[in-house]
Amino acid sequence: MAERVIMTPEAIARIRTSFAEISAEPRTLAGRFYTELFDAAPKLRGLFPVDLTSLQGHFEAALALVIRNLEQMRALEEPLRELGAQHVAWGAKPEDYILVREALIRAIRASSTNWNDTVEADWRRAITSIAVPMVEGAAVHAAMVAERLSQE
Ligand code: HEM
Repeated sequence: MAERVIMTPEAIARIRTSFAEISAEPRTLAGRFYTELFDAAPKLRGLFPVDLTSLQGHFEAALALVIRNLEQMRALEEPLRELGAQHVAWGAKPEDYILVREALIRAIRASSTNWNDTVEADWRRAITSIAVPMVEGAAVHAAMVAERLSQE
């Protein structure tokens, strides 16, 4: 199992301050995120619905998850694993989580006035703390399918 990402209370406070600034314009941020993601990885566009406005929900849910639950990551691990297993059906590969994380960081940076290396590192850790259990959940899903196969 991958090591758990621990956020200090100071880092969580910095993230929330940063989020308060960018969440004033959620649509701008969401638009930037998908532009960044599909510019960096056009192959991912086909996984998402044609109508980009429906992607809004995905983006906002993902970001709100990161922000709201930074102190309770342990309690969130199981639901995140399930979300990760669900993502297998949507075509998300483990490597895609890096692309998503970096696109999100570029979008947040472009929407921020108080950006620095510390805030960037904080955001990267926060997003990683969500992505790691999701990728593990996908791996557990694959192991369970293998188990089922072997028993047929
Ligand atoms: C930080 C990591 C991520 C989080 C927190 C996250 C969160 C979510 C959530 C909450 C949903 C909506 C679930 C629902 O409707 O029940 C969703 C859907 C989806 N996610 Fe993610 N996601 C993440 C990473 C990824 C990655 C790496 C990919 C692959 C490129 C991806 C592709 C998708 C797709 C294709 C959908 C379905 C969109 C649709 O058809 O409506 N996600 N995600």
